[in-house]
Amino acid sequence: MQSNILKPQNEFSLFFVFDINKNELEVLSSLSHLETKRAEIVKKYNSDITATISFGYNIWEDWMSSKLSFATPSGFQPFKKLVSPNLSTESGKKKFHYAPATNGDVFIHVNSERMDLNYQLVSALLFKHKQDIKVLVDISGYKYLGGRDLTGFIDGTKNPDTLKEKTETAIIQSSDLQAASKEVKHVMENGSFVLVQKWVHNLEKWETVNETDQEKVIGRKKPDSKPVVPRPETSHVARSILMENGKQYKILRASFPYGNKTGNVAGLLFCSYCKDLSVIDKMLRKMYGLRDQNVKGTVLYDRTLDYSQAVTGSYFFTPSLNVLEEIGRRALSESGISSKL
Ligand code: HEM
Repeated sequence: MQSNILKPQNEFSLFFVFDINKNELEVLSSLSHLETKRAEIVKKYNSDITATISFGYNIWEDWMSSKLSFATPSGFQPFKKLVSPNLSTESGKKKFHYAPATNGDVFIHVNSERMDLNYQLVSALLFKHKQDIKVLVDISGYKYLGGRDLTGFIDGTKNPDTLKEKTETAIIQSSDLQAASKEVKHVMENGSFVLVQKWVHNLEKWETVNETDQEKVIGRKKPDSKPVVPRPETSHVARSILMENGKQYKILRASFPYGNKTGNVAGLLFCSYCKDLSVIDKMLRKMYGLRDQNVKGTVLYDRTLDYSQAVTGSYFFTPSLNVLEEIGRRALSESGISSKL
């Protein structure tokens, strides 16, 4: 599998989403050199750096499937715009929340102790393709106060923690693929799916809310992340816990804050891996009030949406390192280019 899914996250993450406009095969070939470029940086700077490369639905269909003969991962779909039902409880008024779909061809996710090395890796992969790509998201996130979101709340408390739990949550294993064809198994084994969403916080509005009410919005206490009891059904935690038939379905979050409290744009770059894309999709639908109502028929949505707006939304498939390198080899032979890098 690729190196950045299961490793504990160091201080800085770079989230880089782009479309490929031309020379697709050459760009795919360069991207497949991820592991070599990463190892060079580790050696040169004696610093750990991990990275994953993931692909959007359109490029998978247009290039990996159609031109390079890879199967399409089952359950793969593009991110589709979400719009809540009318959330206003006042008659004559309407209020909606929405999550835009921006997708993108490629997502590079890098993490290390040094922001400069993160840039170094992305530059090493893409330096000769500046004219071939259009950048959609380029966010450098940093750990804030030891792991808090800019709202001041600890983010990650209930994230899968042990290697076993992380693997079971995020990595597609052969036991998950019993019903799949040989071709689909080949593409999916040791892969993952990932949601990337850039959220912009309205911190001015958030900071007018007193701490007790903020805790009701999140569903956890601000100082230590202990649960708020009883847990409000519109809290973020209540809306993001996904239970089906007595089983809790989890995702592996690797989100980082970006920007700063005094700047114009600050928020959370939400990033989460899961072996089953429908789990992430269902969580989002719960958050946007598209799944549950309370006994009085009021739509239950996530109150954090009143303080934070998603401005991008993309789903990607993260192939195993073997498949990533095979994409490069097939791209190279399809294009007839030489592999000098
Ligand atoms: C503005 C964006 C978001 C912020 C600021 C945020 C923040 C938080 C915080 C503070 C917690 C509580 C501590 C913890 O368990 O980590 C939490 C939990 C969680 N969040 Fe988010 N989150 C955001 C978006 C999302 C999205 C988009 C999803 C899913 C698609 C999500 C899924 C979860 C899950 C699964 C939990 C753990 C729930 C549990 O098992 O207790 N979050 N988040």
